[in-house]
Amino acid sequence: MTRHLTSLYDLAPQDVLAILDSAADLKARYRNGDCPQLLQGRVLAQMFEKPSLRTRNSFEAAMINLGGAGIFLTTEEAGLNGRESLRDVATVLSSYSAIITMRTYSQQLIEDFAKISSCPVINALSDERHPCQALTDLLTIRETFGRLEGLHLVFVGDGNNVAMSLSIASAMTGLKFTLAVPQGFAMPEEFCTDLAKRFPEAQVEQVHDPLSAVSTADVVYTDVWASMGQEEDAARRQQAFANFQVNEALLNLAPDGVKFMHDLPAKRGLEVTDDVMDGSSSIVFQQAENRMHLARGLFAWLLAQ
Ligand code: CP
Ligand code: NVA
Repeated sequence: MTRHLTSLYDLAPQDVLAILDSAADLKARYRNGDCPQLLQGRVLAQMFEKPSLRTRNSFEAAMINLGGAGIFLTTEEAGLNGRESLRDVATVLSSYSAIITMRTYSQQLIEDFAKISSCPVINALSDERHPCQALTDLLTIRETFGRLEGLHLVFVGDGNNVAMSLSIASAMTGLKFTLAVPQGFAMPEEFCTDLAKRFPEAQVEQVHDPLSAVSTADVVYTDVWASMGQEEDAARRQQAFANFQVNEALLNLAPDGVKFMHDLPAKRGLEVTDDVMDGSSSIVFQQAENRMHLARGLFAWLLAQ
């Protein structure tokens, strides 16, 4: 059966751990100059309708490092703007590819595409999910703390795609997840109810006071206040999130040893200040580098299923 990663719900918790192990193993070997050509001659097709630095290029670098190659097209170039049916595009493109990644506005589009594709489809971000970012974040947290279970991840910001995927990732691996969010920007209620139903033991909460939320944090995480597609709402959001900036004063309220994470791109001076981004608690560039290591581990794992 073709496995997909349209959302972390496509994986069981033991799959998540297996992907992290695969990524950690390949990263250690990469550091020693050992780059196994596991996917020689295989093709990665990437179809994006939003911009990307990390996701697109870490996926392509991962495929090249594993011995394959990547091709890139926009959803428009693929003909998903009405030139032909989704069924026909998915059938044709998957016949050329070993793996397809998709970055779209609509989560449903990725799920519909995956149902037809004959090769694995990976969600490279939608308005609702960013599973590869969340897997990378687990890898980075596990590298840093030596474990996942029992740690407290505090996300200060919007209840967006990154927050939702991180809350699922946390529920699957035993992290406590707190979203400190202004009123009106929380993760949707149906999403939270569904998550609680799937993982009754999960510790996932939403609060409105970032100051007390970070007081027990092992990791403080933030993301942009206006995601791609929300540019016209940016001014209103800037006002609403004004007290949710991750700055030195906020980080000083967290326990010693706290780490700061951000999926990037960051709007320095808005959701995070330079002193935090570039400070000693920040692991944002380790996190960004890990996008490639996670992609290698994920590709190798998916194609071994
Ligand atoms: N973190 C992340 O997904 O970055 P890009 O939008 O640059 O891919
Ligand atoms: N929430 C952000 C994440 C970017 C990687 C967005 O969707 O724009």
